[in-house]
Amino acid sequence: MQKLINWIDERLPIVDAWEKHLSKYYAPKNFNFWYFFGSLALVVLVNQLLTGIWLTMSYVPTAEGAFASVEYIMRDVEFGWLIRYLHSTGASAFFVVVYLHMFRGLMYGSYQKPRELIWIFGMTIYLVLMAEAFLGYLLPWGQMSYWGAQVIVSLFGAIPVVGEDLAQWIRGDYLISGITLNRFFALHVIALPIVLIGLVVLHILALHEVGSNNPDGVDIKKNKDENGVPRDGIPFHPYYTVHDIVGLVVFLFVFCVVVFYFPEMGGYFIEKPNFEPANPLKTPDHIAPVWYFTPFYAMLRAVTYPLFGVDAKFWGVVVMGAGIAILFVLPWLDKSPVRSIRYKGMLSKIWLAIFVVSFVILGVCGALPADAQPSWLAPLCTALYFAYFLLMPLYTKMESTKPVPERVTH
Ligand code: HEM
Repeated sequence: MQKLINWIDERLPIVDAWEKHLSKYYAPKNFNFWYFFGSLALVVLVNQLLTGIWLTMSYVPTAEGAFASVEYIMRDVEFGWLIRYLHSTGASAFFVVVYLHMFRGLMYGSYQKPRELIWIFGMTIYLVLMAEAFLGYLLPWGQMSYWGAQVIVSLFGAIPVVGEDLAQWIRGDYLISGITLNRFFALHVIALPIVLIGLVVLHILALHEVGSNNPDGVDIKKNKDENGVPRDGIPFHPYYTVHDIVGLVVFLFVFCVVVFYFPEMGGYFIEKPNFEPANPLKTPDHIAPVWYFTPFYAMLRAVTYPLFGVDAKFWGVVVMGAGIAILFVLPWLDKSPVRSIRYKGMLSKIWLAIFVVSFVILGVCGALPADAQPSWLAPLCTALYFAYFLLMPLYTKMESTKPVPERVTH
């Protein structure tokens, strides 16, 4: 075995890579619950890739065959139901895990210098993940697949001058059709997964270049022993590989309960209209995106006034786009001298709480029909969502912070 490793190592530096990224990658020893979600996101990514490949073996990407092929997978393909539920539940699990992973970043200021690029790669991953989920949702060719795609693609039509042509170019047709399904399939199974994998590699390379942050936001590289090893660091392998297995087991337990007992999750993971084949002549009563898009969908619908002679729909699209774009510049909005929420002042804590509450309320608003909620609620929460970011340069500068300890705490 050692001979084989040496032979390969002389041609490809595998020992070097193992040491750099695992056995000699010193991670802070105070990682907590919130640090499970990066490795869980990796596990879910692998689950999506594997189950996706197996689904593709029996799926038919045509308007005539798609819906029936999914039913065939569910009823006739051996363990097809399991492969499909692993994939559909995996999509929602991906967003659960990624939202918690992002929230950890907000709490501990993990986006702050020198980790801006890790954050930018992360946000690009999030954007591509949203595109990937949207494209995949059309594939079962159910009623909600069809009409969801219809609504979202038509949003491009709201762009002045070029909008309609752009929407038609995306669809490849005058309406969502088999041509649209073909291209969404190609992008969903080939193009975006490749981009995602590439981005995840860059995300982790960038992380390992500067080192991990931690719940205290203490820079562990400032305090090294005589061998140059951070005193508050422990080798990622075996300590965190074993530690992460604990999180993985708990995650898999919850994941399997959903897969085996609640795969539709009351219509939130697989929506009820999607049990009916797509019908271009029949619009469902209530069109709502899957839960992970609903906060942004609520922002889109929150704008109801035309401005400068341009349709409200266009401004809705602008607000929704800005809601995502503003997260990209977060590292430059936070002016606090400390990273972690533990040592930030009261204003940062209050605004983070306001942000979370408004995001959750927006999620609920986006899932409900527009007439089943107070008309002021989504606009108010949209305003608070933006206020968290736009006022950040002010409140992070104004507030007094607590002294950050020299060493990490437990
Ligand atoms: C496929 C999706 C993703 C995967 C597989 C992934 C993977 C990872 C892994 C393995 C780590 C190191 C372990 C940890 O700190 O939890 C990490 C760290 C990090 N990720 Fe992600 N990530 C993903 C998406 C995102 C997104 C969407 C963001 C934010 C926009 C993000 C921001 C960060 C940050 C800031 C860190 C450094 C955290 C720290 O050191 O405190 N990641 N990621």
